[in-house]
Amino acid sequence: MTTYITTPIYYVNSTPHIGHAYTTIIADTYSRFRRLCGDDVRFQTGTDEHGEKIVQAAEKESIAPREYADRISAAFRDTWPLLDIAPDHFIRTTYPEHIKVVQDILQKVYDQGDIYFSSYSGHYCKGCERFLTEKELVDGKCPDHLTVPDEVSEQNYFFRMSKYQDWLINHIKANPDYITPERYRNEVLSFLSEPLEDLCISRPCSRLTWGIPLPFDKNFVTYVWFDALINYLTGIGYPDGANFIKYWSVAEHIVAKDILKPHAIYWPTMIQAAGLPPYQKLHVHGYWNVDDTKMSKSIGNVIRPGDLVEEYGADTVRYFLLREMSFGRDASFSKEAIFERRNSDLANDIGNLFSRALTMLAKYADAKVPQADEAVVIEEDRALIAAIEKMLADYAACMNGFEFHRALQAVWEVIGMLNRFIVTNAPWELAKDAAQAGRLRTVLYFLAESLRILALVLRPVMPTAANKMAAALGLSKELDKAVLPEAGRWGGILPGTALHVGEAIFPRLEKKAAAPAAPEKPKPQAKAEKKAEPAAQEEDGLISFEYFGKVELRVAEIVAAEKIAKAEKLLKLTVRAPEERTLVAGIAKHYQPEELIGRKVIIVANLKPAKLMGITSQGMVLAAKEKDADGNEQLVLSAVAADIAVGSRVA
Ligand code: MSP
Repeated sequence: MTTYITTPIYYVNSTPHIGHAYTTIIADTYSRFRRLCGDDVRFQTGTDEHGEKIVQAAEKESIAPREYADRISAAFRDTWPLLDIAPDHFIRTTYPEHIKVVQDILQKVYDQGDIYFSSYSGHYCKGCERFLTEKELVDGKCPDHLTVPDEVSEQNYFFRMSKYQDWLINHIKANPDYITPERYRNEVLSFLSEPLEDLCISRPCSRLTWGIPLPFDKNFVTYVWFDALINYLTGIGYPDGANFIKYWSVAEHIVAKDILKPHAIYWPTMIQAAGLPPYQKLHVHGYWNVDDTKMSKSIGNVIRPGDLVEEYGADTVRYFLLREMSFGRDASFSKEAIFERRNSDLANDIGNLFSRALTMLAKYADAKVPQADEAVVIEEDRALIAAIEKMLADYAACMNGFEFHRALQAVWEVIGMLNRFIVTNAPWELAKDAAQAGRLRTVLYFLAESLRILALVLRPVMPTAANKMAAALGLSKELDKAVLPEAGRWGGILPGTALHVGEAIFPRLEKKAAAPAAPEKPKPQAKAEKKAEPAAQEEDGLISFEYFGKVELRVAEIVAAEKIAKAEKLLKLTVRAPEERTLVAGIAKHYQPEELIGRKVIIVANLKPAKLMGITSQGMVLAAKEKDADGNEQLVLSAVAADIAVGSRVA
């Protein structure tokens, strides 16, 4: 099969932000996914460089529009590799081949009588680069740009868009997948229920020269949308290039809701007038806000992808954007949300799973994939295989349907299941009993094979992390060639495969220290308060109930554990209680880090923070200790007798 996927070509009047990054990440993820399914894929993005907006932006910097466009276009082109985005083609509307195609199509449509000359007056929004209808105005303003449109009256050329209205309505009704999600399809159909006006497709050179001259009247340049939309044809070699023949019939466009109308109404009618088959699909997504506020330069809350990559890495940014937005709806970006996803979904869930499993494979199987023992495969193992098969089916359906957040949810359910699989099978216990050697090998094989499948499905979403996973599993070459669904079949990793345990794929991020609080003034009543405080210990060695009540004991779940260099006895634990905190515990001689994850323990949550080996411990884990007659120490962590929410108070 073949896939042709495009993003909008971005205006060069501003540099890339997370909105542009989101659309382009989606296109990249989808193209990697379709490649993983064996497709021949072409992915195109680029820049839209003509029009009034660009002239104004260049004027502000006192440079020529071309020089300005060169600079910003390069900023887009150079941003994409930072996010592991790899388009097959980057198109610019200033390329001579594009200019020629636009002129050829204009001439063709003009010759067949679908372009005529007339006068027009209307409300022109410079931000949208189009005339707005009376109905679209809110309080006389453009609802997107919150500016009063210019009243423009001039003679221009018009495209007979109205002629194609009935065809378009029928086409959308007959092809439910033509515009998705459904809400946008309905929006377009509702708009089309009113008579469609013809589209003004020129600007007089007296007003604008930075555009493509009309081939049939040199006193006019082409309206920016008629120019820009045609990029989708130029970039694949319209009218007779091999790529055009191969890809046009499967074209899928991704846009946000802001440019629904040009893509769902202007473009299909233009294609129809040019005598071409319609594009296949239009995928429309919502808008990213920042901290629930519209992103804008004037508010100063524009998020730049380069800054995010520097702080979190490309994989985290890609994962976050795909996981957090439900395609079609708006979403809100916040630093807290990306930090939380990084530490919980990536460091805790997949990161821990991966490093625990590999550490155990190294320790108990000599860093080689062991042979599973069919005789000891139990019901729970078979349930795991069934869950992975279901995940693969759900994942593929969701990726094809542009429900990326759902695809990732399905993958994370399996990750959760695997983390529980480790806890219930406790390989460290199996390793203590020679009679369990077969079961140990089986559990470890199941882990290695599950990780292979995870590396496979994560490739389109987080290419760098997935490559690291593949390398650690000794499968770089195999996974490069893997094709779904075959490669998803259970049993792909071969016993004997050498593993390479390396660095963590998602090291936990530490919260940046908050700004120091202003020094508090001593409270006048401090002395009196002190007096009221109950005595720490009564004379008979007992403490009062009130005093005990001051100790805040809570249930906490250990989500990460690691050794501390040069500290034999200490482990650094990350727990949720329910907020995340770091604890340093003197339990390293009694517990391996990998056996602690997922355990629920009791902690003292309001202990004054203390620094141990340079790490600030924010509390203490409770454990029981005893010494036998020979002076050997035994230590057992506290636990809760049944499942209970983390953060629950112990009293
Ligand atoms: N040049 C036109 C598109 C021509 S396509 C033939 C244009 N350019 S743009 O630079 O304004 O880009 C608009 C697109 O950028 C949106 O449709 C969307 O893909 C992306 N986004 C810009 N801001 C966005 C958000 N705040 N949130 C999500 N995506 C956004 O329109």
